Parts: sequence; structure tokens; C-alpha cells
Amino acid sequence: MERRTIGASALAVGAVGLGCMPMSWAYSASRQRGDESLRTVHRALDLGSSLLDTADMYGPFTNELLLGRVLRQRRADAFVSTKVGLLVGDQHIVANGRPGYVRRACDASLRRLQTDVIDLYQLHRPDPEVPIEETWGAMAELVRAGKVRALGLCAVGARSARRGRAGLYDATVRQLERVQQVFPVSAVQAELSVWSPEALETLLPWCQARGVGFLAAMPLGNGFLTGTLRPGAGFEPDDLRARHPRFTAEMMAANQPIVVGLRRIAARHGEAVTPAQVALAWVLAQGRQVIPVPGAKRERWVTENAAATALRLTAEDLAEVGALPAALGSWE
Ligand SMILES: NC(=O)c1ccc[n+]([C@@H]2O[C@H](COP(=O)([O-])OP(=O)(O)OC[C@H]3O[C@@H](n4cnc5c(N)ncnc54)[C@H](OP(=O)(O)O)[C@@H]3O)[C@@H](O)[C@H]2O)c1
Repeated sequence: MERRTIGASALAVGAVGLGCMPMSWAYSASRQRGDESLRTVHRALDLGSSLLDTADMYGPFTNELLLGRVLRQRRADAFVSTKVGLLVGDQHIVANGRPGYVRRACDASLRRLQTDVIDLYQLHRPDPEVPIEETWGAMAELVRAGKVRALGLCAVGARSARRGRAGLYDATVRQLERVQQVFPVSAVQAELSVWSPEALETLLPWCQARGVGFLAAMPLGNGFLTGTLRPGAGFEPDDLRARHPRFTAEMMAANQPIVVGLRRIAARHGEAVTPAQVALAWVLAQGRQVIPVPGAKRERWVTENAAATALRLTAEDLAEVGALPAALGSWE
């Protein structure tokens, strides 16, 4: 598989990573796939999808524990990217960016992941109660202590921020400017997909101008862009899509032209090419520092997604994606 470097660092990973979140979080627990997820992670590593993206709060904790079972055997094949700063409470998810908490959380992640170093440690959400320099300073200390190799910042969560995605990304750029004064940021993680391209406006250019890597979260539009979800099929209450405005039956039907367009482009590249692969190839085409982290529980999807690195979209394909209708149903 093609390799890409994480920003200006010497850390190289397979161009398509693996988002491990769906194995234990955000999608319906009834659809979690137990040990098949373990095989899926092994398959990803076999195929060169070395970047495994997780977070302590996925589960909570069970996603890191799952990865630890793989890393115990195959640490050298993997690039571990985890996150700190969010705690799952009884009622709400709360941010905690206090330095003492960050230090303890890192040690706990290392234990669960069964490793002595985290390749990329990302701040999941800045804590509004703690100056970001303090949180980032504690994370920088972890690099100096050899527990972490590189630092990243996530910019997801526009809905809770109630300021829209453009507002979120403007705020993120300001945060990035501040943390860069403390310790270099190696990667930003934010949503980027055919139906959520907003990061192309300011956030990705900011990263490109500074040699900062970009992890594209939700590159398959939470599964919508794969064309495998039927409008009206419904989602269980513990599936994030049950509350997502783009996943009502009405909006899924209204957004079908996007999937139809991806399918049309896929067909031009061969019978076996899928809309999911076109969606990932589009993300990959946005720049060499962009690394999509599609989420998947199944070996079959990981195999299909890894093969997207061999799909080269033409200028005509890219123009056609650019001309697809904007998605209806705001997430903001
Ligand atoms: N930093 C943050 O705050 C944040 C927030 C959200 C996500 N993320 C990261 O982004 C990653 C990806 O996000 P995501 O998983 O929510 O969304 P996604 O990658 O856009 O979509 C994942 C969904 O697509 C399905 N899928 C994957 N490959 C497929 C294929 N080839 N054909 C058909 N269906 C396919 C998966 O099904 P199965 O699961 O059933 O296999 C899963 O339901 C996460 O794992 C996480 O690492 C980060």
C-alpha cells in the first residue's frame, strides 16, 4: 500500500488507516462483532493499513483494550493513534484537559494498549475550563518522557459547539496557532468526505501550509457514501445515526443523488469498484498529507477500503464529484 508521512514527521503509515470506533462505540452495541473485530484489525495490518485510530472514551476503554490484544503480538506493524480529554459520565460526555488528568490518562491508555509508546496522542476536545496551552504542555511532557511520539488535535463536534462547522474550524485554527507556540502539532483530525468537504476551505489549507498531517475522520459519511444503507431502514436508539439529521428516511432519500454519482464514477473504473472506494479515493486525492481513517468492523470492508489506494480518480472524476449536489440535512 502507498505510504504517507504524518505531517513533517518521519512517521510513515499506510495511506488508508483503520478507524476502530465502530467496533465498540457510536454505532449500535447490538451490531458489535466481538472477535471478528480482532480479525479485522489483523487484516488491516496485513494489508498495510497500519494507522489504527482509537480513543480512551470509545467503549469507554474497551476499544483500546481490544487493540491491546492485537498490539501485544504485532506492535511493529501498527501506528497507534489514540485520544485524551473526554470522559464518559452517566449523563454527559465531559472534557477534562487538566495536566494531572492527561498524565494519568496516558498511563492508563498505555496499559490498555499493551505498549510502551503511543505514536500519535490527540487532544479529543479542548477543555473550556483549562487554557489549551496547559493541556498541550502536559501532552508535550509525555513526548519528552518517551511515552508519546507525536501530538495531534481533533476538530469534531460542531453540533455541540452550536457555531457551525465553519465556526468550529476557525476556532480550531486559533487553537492550533496557540498550541504551536508550546509544542509542534503533527496532525489534525477532522471530518472530511464527499458530503462534508468544509475542511477544504480553511483547516486543510492551514495544515498544508505548515506540513501538518490531516486524519480524515468519517470519510464514508458514517456509511452513507458506501451506498449500502437503505433509506428508511432505521437505526437503533444507541446508534449515532438515529439522531443525525442526515439519516432520517427523508434526508437519506434526498441525498441519494450523491451515492448515484459515486456509483457512476465507480462503474467507469470497473465492475468491482465500489462507491466506498471512490469516496476514499476522493479523500486521498485532496493532498499527500491526508490519511482517511474509515471505520469498519468487518474484514470485508477493510479489504475493500485498502484497495481504494490503487484507485486513481481522473480530473473528470474529481470534477464530477465536485459537481454533485451539496448534502441536505445539516449536522449543525
Ligand atoms: N476525533 C473525533 O472526535 C472523531 C469522531 C468521529 C469519528 N472519528 C474517527 O473516524 C473514524 C471513522 O468514522 P466512522 O466510523 O464514524 O465513519 P465512516 O468511516 O464514515 O463510516 C463507517 C461506517 O461505514 C461502514 N463501512 C466501512 N467500510 C465500508 C465499505 N467498504 N462498504 C460498506 N460499508 C462500509 C462501517 O460498517 P461496519 O462498522 O458495520 O463495518 C461503518 O458503519 C472513527 O473510527 C474514528 O477513528 C473521530
